[in-house]
Amino acid sequence: MIQKREDIKDRFVEAFGTEPVVFRAPGRINIIGEHTDYNDGFVLPAAIDLAVYVFIQRSGSDQSKLISIDLDESYFFNIKEALAPVDQGWVNYFLGVIDQLQMAGHQLEGFNLMFTSDIPMGSGLSSSAALECGFGQALIDLFDLNVPKMDLAKMGQAAEHKFAGVKCGIMDQFASCMGKDGHVVRLDCRSLEFEYYPADFKAYDLVLFDSNVKHNLADSQYNIRRAQCEEGVKALQSVNPDITSLREANLEDLAEAQASMEEVVYRRCKYAIEENIRVQTVCEALQAGEIERVGQIMLETHHGLSKDYEVSCKELDTLIEIATNCEGHIGGRMMGGGFGGCTINLIRKDKVDKVISQVVDGYKKALGIDTKVYRVAIADGVGRLK
Ligand code: GLA
Repeated sequence: MIQKREDIKDRFVEAFGTEPVVFRAPGRINIIGEHTDYNDGFVLPAAIDLAVYVFIQRSGSDQSKLISIDLDESYFFNIKEALAPVDQGWVNYFLGVIDQLQMAGHQLEGFNLMFTSDIPMGSGLSSSAALECGFGQALIDLFDLNVPKMDLAKMGQAAEHKFAGVKCGIMDQFASCMGKDGHVVRLDCRSLEFEYYPADFKAYDLVLFDSNVKHNLADSQYNIRRAQCEEGVKALQSVNPDITSLREANLEDLAEAQASMEEVVYRRCKYAIEENIRVQTVCEALQAGEIERVGQIMLETHHGLSKDYEVSCKELDTLIEIATNCEGHIGGRMMGGGFGGCTINLIRKDKVDKVISQVVDGYKKALGIDTKVYRVAIADGVGRLK
């Protein structure tokens, strides 16, 4: 990647005649707390060492150019003209962020930009959030704007809603902005208070297995899940008018309201309420160094995501099933929005190599698909590269 970055710098100088400044924004993993962020609940993500790299410099006019090195595509526009979503999917993340900054009253001028990423797309590692945050931070620095990182995360989220049509929660952008080397971070998505915990998994390593299924269904089904949770909240309000999100509801409230909601809505709510409790339990277990317990709870989450929330798929379930049968694997679950992407697993260090080969072989044998293995390290959030 370092050599590639040097090459892109050279290309930039050749194309635009100026040296770029370079920004890095990471993807994320999430230990626990899936589909809880938009229910005002808790999440426990961490930024990783796979990232988006943004090379940028002022253009000296209103004309702006975006170049995707990986896709070999480009897009021209005038920064002073009105913005609306376009057909070139990746461009929308940029336009969405510009739109947010401009709506907040920030003055932008034209720029030239190249970017590359080593975060696999559609793998549940938040490549799009990294793009939003890396680009946002680049504009903030380039034009000397006063935007705290938490506001940048919110803008990235809003850009995704408005320009990509995914009604995502705040977790991914938060992790990309606020991640800290060697730490996981527990975020309260209602108050936005957060706390770092050392990412110390003792005798265990985190390993990701990529199902190699790109989560295409994810956008539409994601928005449906969100709507179902909102429907659940309405029914819950009939038993307790103080409930404004699933975060405020408990399983007793849900049992009382069960008769007034559709069965599917009930299962969505049940999952979200239970998952929120699991985040708290995992934080306690981490602090107590009880990593086997963390693994056990991750398996409970997978079960809930698969059976109650129904955002898993045959491939992800197969990956978990194979891994669970391997000696040294103490827990795992699908990660991110679902319908494809990766599983996240805790595996005893001295068994990692063996488990990896068993999962790779087993997956190929069961479904005829190759799995990719990522052994990510936990890294800092967005920033300028020196
Ligand atoms: C996607 C969204 C996040 C979050 C997860 C599920 O990654 O972008 O906001 O909802 O799915 O936990």
